[in-house]
Amino acid sequence: MNTKFETIQLEQKGDFAVLTISREKSLNALNLQVHTELHACLSTLKNNADKLRGLILTGAGEKAFIAGADIVEMSKMSSQEAFDFATLGQQVSLLFEELPFPVIACVNGFALGGGCEMAMSCDFIYATQTAMFGQPEVKLGLIPGFGGTQRLAKLIGRNKAKELIFTGRNIKVEEAKEMGLVVKTFETKDEMLAAAVTTLTKIGMNSPLAVSVAKRVMNEGCDLTIEDGLKVEAKYFGEIFGTADMIEGTTAFLEKRKANFNN
Ligand code: HXC
Repeated sequence: MNTKFETIQLEQKGDFAVLTISREKSLNALNLQVHTELHACLSTLKNNADKLRGLILTGAGEKAFIAGADIVEMSKMSSQEAFDFATLGQQVSLLFEELPFPVIACVNGFALGGGCEMAMSCDFIYATQTAMFGQPEVKLGLIPGFGGTQRLAKLIGRNKAKELIFTGRNIKVEEAKEMGLVVKTFETKDEMLAAAVTTLTKIGMNSPLAVSVAKRVMNEGCDLTIEDGLKVEAKYFGEIFGTADMIEGTTAFLEKRKANFNN
């Protein structure tokens, strides 16, 4: 895997990898180069998915996860360039969803605008006590462009999302947790990263195939009508039957031993 990038770092630790946005001086703001590198990196991970069981996304330093899209760069963009920039960022956000293993966003400090949007495209969010979320784009005469108008509404409900996007107000971690945006909170960044590894390790002991199919069914099905969502669920439930993981999992139960999905 090519792990040589300038604005991001990919560090593989056994079955897991930590992807860090590394523009600390600009509070890890997302410019075109970050998105281009993220796109290349996530495409490679997707094509080599058998080598990994989970990914952690975080920001360099203590102050910010990602303080949004790069305002300096955006301020010079034409309408067409802005469209292309939003489209590239959206493709990156979809790649996080398409990775066939869990992705945990570990949010330290500011997760604003595009930062909040990238966190929301991960499977779930862990955050430190200093984390701050928000979609402040309207304060800049902009709207969210990396999926915020859609994913925030789906995650916390349309009206609560409207209140946050229209006011552009930042919310502290307690409120983000209460809204269901954040799953767990931690005192320090190190504690959070260690907990994310523990969670991925626990998930990694389950059938990787079943976890990836559950992720796919939930991503594909959650926005459909209940009837259509249930059809997607039944389709994949049927397809998973007869797979090596399903045979190992059920056989291990019947033989009263722990399943070993590492073959
Ligand atoms: C470019 C940024 C930046 C950003 C911070 N910096 N956020 N540069 N783009 N989004 C830079 C600052 O200019 C400064 O550089 C350095 O990082 C440190 O930031 P400070 O402002 O000095 O720190 P502080 O006073 O602690 O304030 C932190 C902050 C503030 C509250 C996070 O920086 C801020 O409000 N940033 C913008 C947040 C925002 O509006 N995000 C949404 C962007 S729009 P210098 O060189 O001066 O030291 C967006 C759209 C997504 O995300 C969709 C696009 C398609």
